[in-house]
Amino acid sequence: MVGRSVLITGATSGIGRSAAAQLVEAGWDVWVTGRSLERATQVAAEVGGRALALDVTDGASVAAAAAAVDRLDALVNNAGIRPDYGVGLLDADPELFRTSYETNVFGIVAVTNALLPALRRSSSPRIVNVSSGTASFGWSTGPNPQFDHEAAAASGGRFAVYRSSKAALNALTMYYAQALALEGFLVNALAPGARRTNLNPGMQGVGLTAGRGGEPTEGAAGVVALLDLPSDGPTGALFSYDGTVAPW
Ligand SMILES: NC(=O)c1ccc[n+]([C@@H]2O[C@H](COP(=O)([O-])OP(=O)(O)OC[C@H]3O[C@@H](n4cnc5c(N)ncnc54)[C@H](OP(=O)(O)O)[C@@H]3O)[C@@H](O)[C@H]2O)c1
Repeated sequence: MVGRSVLITGATSGIGRSAAAQLVEAGWDVWVTGRSLERATQVAAEVGGRALALDVTDGASVAAAAAAVDRLDALVNNAGIRPDYGVGLLDADPELFRTSYETNVFGIVAVTNALLPALRRSSSPRIVNVSSGTASFGWSTGPNPQFDHEAAAASGGRFAVYRSSKAALNALTMYYAQALALEGFLVNALAPGARRTNLNPGMQGVGLTAGRGGEPTEGAAGVVALLDLPSDGPTGALFSYDGTVAPW
């Protein structure tokens, strides 16, 4: 895997920053991207990557980033927001959905499609979409739900805006995997676990099971593991950070 190139969105903090550090350590040439070029430059200097400005919701920014990157082996769609922190579905303004989907869904389509020409120059292109286990229908229903109905009911559907945007991302992951399968792409989604980051400072989740999650490094290791899959490895799946396949 040494010498391969990867671009990470939202690499200025949390899981993205940690993934950038781990991938540099593993020998990858890493594009550290962020909304703030100043911050991306600072983080790139700290971890040993290359800095690039990239706001996934800004078409001109996406186009400029795509023009700057000639060839890529991997794309990590990590940038994400949770604007409904503390807001339940029953009180949610539709504007919250628009805001959330701009970054968590539409931004991924914009960045992925813009970078496809660069990824097609790789002999083994990969895309990892950083999703959320809270978006898993299997983990929200079924015999052993991790994000149970009682907690959702008690909180008035807490984080439903965020969770639904990540459920849309899961669907996009499967469709991208199918659309790019004949070109040898591996496209997978990652549930990185609950991590103490700017997005989740209080480690709050829906029915979060005590003891799960922790520092962003462990979630970032899940990104690295998906980029290290063999060329004939799985595509179109949702993985937990521990390498096990999670239910959609
Ligand atoms: N932490 C958790 O418990 C957890 C659990 C499941 C999934 N996730 C997912 O993990 C991913 C990383 O989140 P995190 O927990 O590491 O939180 P974080 O530290 O807040 O990182 C999110 C990153 O996304 C960037 N970002 C936000 N909007 C952007 C935009 N329009 N364009 C480009 N970058 C943008 C942020 O940059 P700025 O500094 O410019 O805001 C930041 O670098 C997200 O997709 C999140 O949904 C996190």
